[in-house]
Parts: sequence; structure tokens; C-alpha cells
Amino acid sequence: MHAQQPFLPHPARDAERSLHALDREKSESAGKAEAPIGVFDSGVGGLTILSALRQELPGENYIYLGDSAHCPYGVRSETEIIDLSVRISRFLIEQGVKLIVVACNTASQAALAALRATFPSIPFVGVVPAVKPAARATQKGRIGIAATNQAAKAAYLRQLIDEFAGGIQAFAIGCPELVTLVEEGQFDGPLVEETVRQALEPILREDIDVIVLGCTHFPALRPVIERIATSQVQVIDSGSAIARRTRYVLDTENLIYPNTGSAAAPGELRLWCSGDPEKFSAISSKLLGYNVTAQQTHL
Ligand code: DGL
Repeated sequence: MHAQQPFLPHPARDAERSLHALDREKSESAGKAEAPIGVFDSGVGGLTILSALRQELPGENYIYLGDSAHCPYGVRSETEIIDLSVRISRFLIEQGVKLIVVACNTASQAALAALRATFPSIPFVGVVPAVKPAARATQKGRIGIAATNQAAKAAYLRQLIDEFAGGIQAFAIGCPELVTLVEEGQFDGPLVEETVRQALEPILREDIDVIVLGCTHFPALRPVIERIATSQVQVIDSGSAIARRTRYVLDTENLIYPNTGSAAAPGELRLWCSGDPEKFSAISSKLLGYNVTAQQTHL
């Protein structure tokens, strides 16, 4: 056993040392606060979360990665999704991000725990289907959840329902065809309308009055979904809740970008994809409503 070091108090020196430590801590956290936020999804879907983030935190810089070479995730195994999510997070961390938003329900459910264990020094914010607000909003006690195949059958979704929607009838359905539409940049028109109608029919016939968009691709189809579901059914997504959660985490970690505020200049967005960058740029521009250019990286 080692002898304990004697504790020799030295107030002046200790005060000086702690001042240096404080300065260093401050400048380190200032540097980190200026770092970008990383956001990723299997494809363009997470851009719906990015839009909410840019609204809530406009002064922040963002790096978005859409894993378009491996989309859709909703039909992949959990092991594959974890592996891809770790590779993407490593890429984003190499780009110097201060926090990562997993803007994909499927990846959040499958990989969030593994990501936190693999990269303990990076805060992660995941997406969950908005079951809790839906349970509050329903008058009939009947809600529908549209998700990916993986997410719709995940035990995690069951737990969410048990925890937040006890006593409420919840009907979950996997709609991979809607992910395909969005990845192809088809957000409206007769074919989209028909595909959405068929995909949602099994939950709409259950006399629900709230639909949860449990996949980040689906808000891109919101006008069509609202038309088909009619005004009797409220459509809820997770975008603004995730953006508020991200602000909260940044705040607690002292990581808010220094000049954030209404007068601050808007932050930058860098876009990456693993598939065809031209196609990704075109569809992303359409979804965001402004022009963006993606670069390609091989994961
Ligand atoms: N956007 C994703 C989600 O929220 C995944 C879509 C997919 O790749 O299947 O689940």
C-alpha cells in the first residue's frame, strides 16, 4: 500500500492554480462551443430534424450526414445499424462536432446506447416517436404510429406506449414505401397520394384521432398525410421537441454557440452523403427549400 501524500495547503499558490485551471477550462469550453453540431440519418429524412434545429438554434453551425448508400435502415438488422451509426459518428467526431443528434428513429432505437458507450465524451441526442404528446392529444384514446419496419416492431416502442400511453389504444405500422418516396424526392402528386393512402389505411381504419410520424422522413410528406388523414386527425412529429432537447443539452454542457440570438448571423451547414452527391444535393435542396451542395464520403 502506498503512503498517502501529505496535504500541504498553500492558499496563494492554490488560488493561482485554480485561476489558471478556470481560464483553461473557460477557453476550452469556448472553443468547443464554437464547434458544429453533427446530425445524421440514413438519408434525407433527418433534414426535417435539421430544419427544426436551425429554427431553434439558428446561430449554430451544422454538419449533416445522410447515409444514402445504406438507406433504408428500417429493413436492416440491429447489428448493421449499430455498425453504421458508429462509423458515421466517428466521421462526425473527426470533423470536430461538439454534440451529435441521431436524427433517425431507427438508429436511435438500435444504436444510441452503443454510441454513448463508444464515445463517452460526446453528448448524443436521439429521436423518439412522439407517443407522449400523442397520448395527451387524443380525445378518443386511440392513436396511430407510422414508423419504419424496424421501429414499428421494436420492443422499445412497446415500452414507450406502456410508459406514456397506458390505457390508450396504439396502432403501429411500418411504412418503408414512404421512406423510398422521400429518398426519391417525391413529396406530392397522385402517385405519392395513393402510396400514402395505402400505407396509412391500416391505422386510419382504426378510428384514431392522432397520428405520430415515427420516422424522420415522414414530415416531408406532411401535407399529403394531413390531406388523407383529414382534419379530424392530428399529425404530430418530433422535430421541435428534439430541437428543444438539443438546446437543453447544449445549455447544461455550456456548449451553446456564443453569439446565438435573434440578431446573430445564421450558422453554416455542411452536407455529406455516402451515396450519389448530385442526387442527394438536389433532393436535400427540395426538402429544405434552399440550395445546398453535398460532398460524398465513403463510410
Ligand atoms: N429516417 C429514419 C427513421 O427515422 C429511417 C428511415 C429508413 O432508413 O428506413 O427511422
